[in-house]
Amino acid sequence: MNNIAVIAGDGIGREVIPAAIDVIERAAPGGASLKFREFPWGCEFYRQNGRMMDRDGLDRLKESDAIFLGAIGDPAVPDHISVWELILPIRQRFDQYVNFRPMRLMPGVPCPLVGRAASDVDMICVRENSEGEYAGLGGRLHIGTPHEVAEQTGLFTRRAIERIARFGFDVASKRPRRRLASATKSNALQHSMVLWDDAVASVAKEYPSVEWRKYHVDALAARMVTDPGSIDVIIASNLFGDILTDLGAAVSGSLGVAPSANLNPERKYPSMFEPIHGSAPDIAGRGIANPIGAIWAGALMLDHLGFRDGHDRIVAAIERVLGNAGPRTPDLGGKATTKEVASAVAAAL
Ligand code: IPM
Ligand code: MG
Repeated sequence: MNNIAVIAGDGIGREVIPAAIDVIERAAPGGASLKFREFPWGCEFYRQNGRMMDRDGLDRLKESDAIFLGAIGDPAVPDHISVWELILPIRQRFDQYVNFRPMRLMPGVPCPLVGRAASDVDMICVRENSEGEYAGLGGRLHIGTPHEVAEQTGLFTRRAIERIARFGFDVASKRPRRRLASATKSNALQHSMVLWDDAVASVAKEYPSVEWRKYHVDALAARMVTDPGSIDVIIASNLFGDILTDLGAAVSGSLGVAPSANLNPERKYPSMFEPIHGSAPDIAGRGIANPIGAIWAGALMLDHLGFRDGHDRIVAAIERVLGNAGPRTPDLGGKATTKEVASAVAAAL
């Protein structure tokens, strides 16, 4: 039995998650026995209870085999509260130190970069997900006075950099091109990013088959636009990876398509799967959100649970629907609803 904790969350999270669960259930092999259990947490819950999840929320999630998350965020709740009471504690407490993010232009999806085809945009970002700029350390002092100060401290450890680098090199060594780009900024960040470069270089020695180099993150961002075909696997710190993966999703045609897996590779704790898009309050409630990011995230979840075949079937079905001019939601220039797209993917399985 695979127990999956579902947090649909806010906004379009509540629309894409049920649509994606339908597809996942159909794609999972007969013996998979997935049991989805919903938790009503998020900003609505916050408005009623003054907190984003139950007090024992993390303990309850810990019992699950995986967590399937929609999106968190509502204009009525400050984002740093909703995020720091739900998403980030889950990532940190469950040591989901890898944020695995494929960035692929699917066949049939128009690329915002002129003249690029699906074969030109096929990247994966392996983002450090446990520390760095998101360590959460710091504070504010003298609030509301002219001498108000804020300090936000990035924290980088050799152990965390080495483990994310190792994961990234592993991924790269199994891809046909076997290339890796390390996102750095060691020219300006002379402490943290020099440690990053040193730790990556030491791990690189274990992977002689992978051709790797480092790029300053600004230059790498430009390269993702001017020459995406030269990039295969990227390893990046928490904040750099956050920014590069929105860029990568945009270059792949739509934020609505991109998936994300927050992994605890040792499987000591549950991993969490989510589309990379947010709650999109501007279109929430209209039933027109693209469910593909959530469906693809569900495919990554099946893979993690040991059902590689289910993953492959879902990704192939997504490719078929997009590639054969099937229904599409407005973000991809179509008029279809969330449900219509999800049904088309289910039918294509
Ligand atoms: C993401 C999101 C989150 C992040 C936010 C909601 C904190 O942008 O998953 O990329 O920055 O990690
Ligand atoms: Mg982001």
